[in-house]
Amino acid sequence: MNIIDIISKTKKSEILSSSEIEWLVGKFTAGEIDDCQMSAWLMAVCLRGLTESETLALTLAMRDSGDILDLSCIERVTADKHSTGGVGDKTTLVIAPVVASCGVAMPKMSGRGLGHTGGTIDKLESIEGYRTELQFEEFINIVQKTGFSVISQSGKLCPADKKIYALRNMTGTVDSTPLICSSIMSKKLATNADCLLLDVKCGSGAFMKTRQSAEKLARLMERVGESAGKKCRAVVTDMDTPLGNNIGNALEVKEAIEVLQGKKRDRLYSLCMELSADILELAGAGSRNECFEMAERAISSGKALETFAKTVELQGGNSAVCYDTSLLPQARYSYRVRASHDVKIISADSEQLGMTSLILGAGRLMKDDDIDYTAGIVMECQRGDNVSQGETLMTLYSSRCSDFSETAVRAIRALTLCPI
Ligand code: URA
Repeated sequence: MNIIDIISKTKKSEILSSSEIEWLVGKFTAGEIDDCQMSAWLMAVCLRGLTESETLALTLAMRDSGDILDLSCIERVTADKHSTGGVGDKTTLVIAPVVASCGVAMPKMSGRGLGHTGGTIDKLESIEGYRTELQFEEFINIVQKTGFSVISQSGKLCPADKKIYALRNMTGTVDSTPLICSSIMSKKLATNADCLLLDVKCGSGAFMKTRQSAEKLARLMERVGESAGKKCRAVVTDMDTPLGNNIGNALEVKEAIEVLQGKKRDRLYSLCMELSADILELAGAGSRNECFEMAERAISSGKALETFAKTVELQGGNSAVCYDTSLLPQARYSYRVRASHDVKIISADSEQLGMTSLILGAGRLMKDDDIDYTAGIVMECQRGDNVSQGETLMTLYSSRCSDFSETAVRAIRALTLCPI
């Protein structure tokens, strides 16, 4: 086998065998294939695509490039969830404790944010003391005690994806359905939970801009997961507007806690209940209706909040924030963006708001950038609302910069407003 033949086959849409794909992934991970040759193959995949069997072979080869977690010591059914990335998406912070308090374990490894989308690990690290880098034994111990733990992804999981993803970022080869599928699914299969829920985002703030392309990715991931022996469901959800009101790490933790406290019954709450019910049903906890009711009871009884607080405490975090969100880090500066005349909000562009939040300090452009946990945006109104002149559309927060002139202009441009 040689790399030139492999590039040439994909370039001509000829189908690679599983052993060719295993060879390619193995050699590249071992540093025996040059970055420029791998980049050429990735570009050929972007332009020509891969068949479903090639995508499965690529996923399995990437899964097998590193450790596969052994979760057999967890005495409950295990479930994992993945969202393909969004703005204001704090659903894991609600769903994991809800599902755990309904008897299904969620041992979860998550990532940091990059670009306009946030990451669960950054959000959790905004809680003072919360440790996201735990040894495997401690991670499992917490799952055994509370039903869930969220830590940052071990570097030993899917080293092939780490190398390939870095190249894709530099070579404009991220937006390929088979490459996104194999990247996400290899990590999920290496985490090795029994059931997998995949939340594929579609819209302006997502990789998949149209519902049709998101559906295609969702069905492909579902079939790859099932072929690899997992119970798998993929749903497509809207990311045209940010999820919930708050964007930015500590602000999103605050909003997730408010959902867990039963104080919010909005689109974020509904989506969390739907996704929790999907996971519980996949895990065999009951019918869809029963699972939905179970999820709602976990919130109304306070059990999910208690479970969240216990995990925060075991991971070294200040669990008092679960009962008093003013203990979360607070921004030094804030600025109200007001309506200049009476308007109706037609839309709020997620990607633009995510970028504004990043500039305020909440995100990173390069993977080692420092972030300001207090920074972000609170949307004071939503798509469809009428807002009177002088009323606040959104509030911007930052501890780094007191001059909001540039970010306020960016933020207002993210909204499509219609005079009323
Ligand atoms: N998230 C991933 O982990 N990989 C992709 O390719 C896209 C999103």
